[in-house]
Amino acid sequence: MKSKSKIFITRIIHDDALNLLYSHALQESWEVKIWPHPLPPTREELIHEARGAHALLTMITDKIDKPLLALLPELKIISNHAVGVDNIDLKAASEQAVAVGNTPDVLTAATAELGLLLTMALLRNLPFALDKAKTNQWRTWGPLLDLTVQLGDMSPADSPPLFGIYGLGRIGQSLGRMLSLGLKANVAYTNTRGPVTNLEYPAKWLSPQELISKADVLIVTCPSNRSTSGLFNKTTLSCMKKGAYFVNISRGDLHDEEALLQLLEANHLAGVALDVTNPEPATLGRNPLLSHPRALITPHIGSATTNARRHMGILAVQNIISYLKSNGLPHPAPFTP
Ligand code: DGY
Repeated sequence: MKSKSKIFITRIIHDDALNLLYSHALQESWEVKIWPHPLPPTREELIHEARGAHALLTMITDKIDKPLLALLPELKIISNHAVGVDNIDLKAASEQAVAVGNTPDVLTAATAELGLLLTMALLRNLPFALDKAKTNQWRTWGPLLDLTVQLGDMSPADSPPLFGIYGLGRIGQSLGRMLSLGLKANVAYTNTRGPVTNLEYPAKWLSPQELISKADVLIVTCPSNRSTSGLFNKTTLSCMKKGAYFVNISRGDLHDEEALLQLLEANHLAGVALDVTNPEPATLGRNPLLSHPRALITPHIGSATTNARRHMGILAVQNIISYLKSNGLPHPAPFTP
């Protein structure tokens, strides 16, 4: 008799996604187990809970490496509740014939919106303005008070800032559209595939080096992989223009936080906004950027809208249902070892 499939989900996900999974699990007699706690399982807990599982529904907080995979010989599929799959050793998974799925597209708008929000808040110095109002320091309006940087819709003679999007994938493209069409800002980008034909908004392609050295606001939207991890180190960041801004909404391992701090303190960088840190979570005491007046840090909330997380849950569950039923994977993770 065929043994019944076991599924382990490492965190409670959206109800609609769970209900979809349960409806199939009931028909197919699958066993579904969910980690019920708000904090992720530790490595030991994950190994313990995942033992014997045929499918894992994981989060970016679950590190799935080769030694862990070796302990799960029954595993057939990992469905990551994220678009990024850098928490999973894709090579080891493929060697063990474990399929890996992700949740692309459905979080693009939410993440790009957060990128725009952080960029605007950084350039318009929102934390300072909020604090000024809240702490009763708002004494008057003044023509030369509280001046910040305008993002777009400026004449070339006024030297509009150049926004450099590092990585024109889905999220980079969406953010580029918001900046270029929505704000009429001056946008450039770089990506590994070279200039994008038929881009539906004005934006010029620059080489990675040109983009880093010419952008007034460098926005990192590329995935983390072997060729991008650690890319924004002291050497690269020092090539940025004096007075430039650095924004990262992708993964914290792409940048060096010590270098960002030094460049902020030397006034080489005017400001830094990060939705991702290295490590995560960032904690006071361990990450001095959290209390730096010109650093804006959010706790990895790019995809944190109810809409995006609902769809991410559904896509993640669909990957598992389809794989267990027919070996089909509607949303396979791109294999970039
Ligand atoms: C992703 O999906 O990769 C995000 O970083 C998590 O929401």
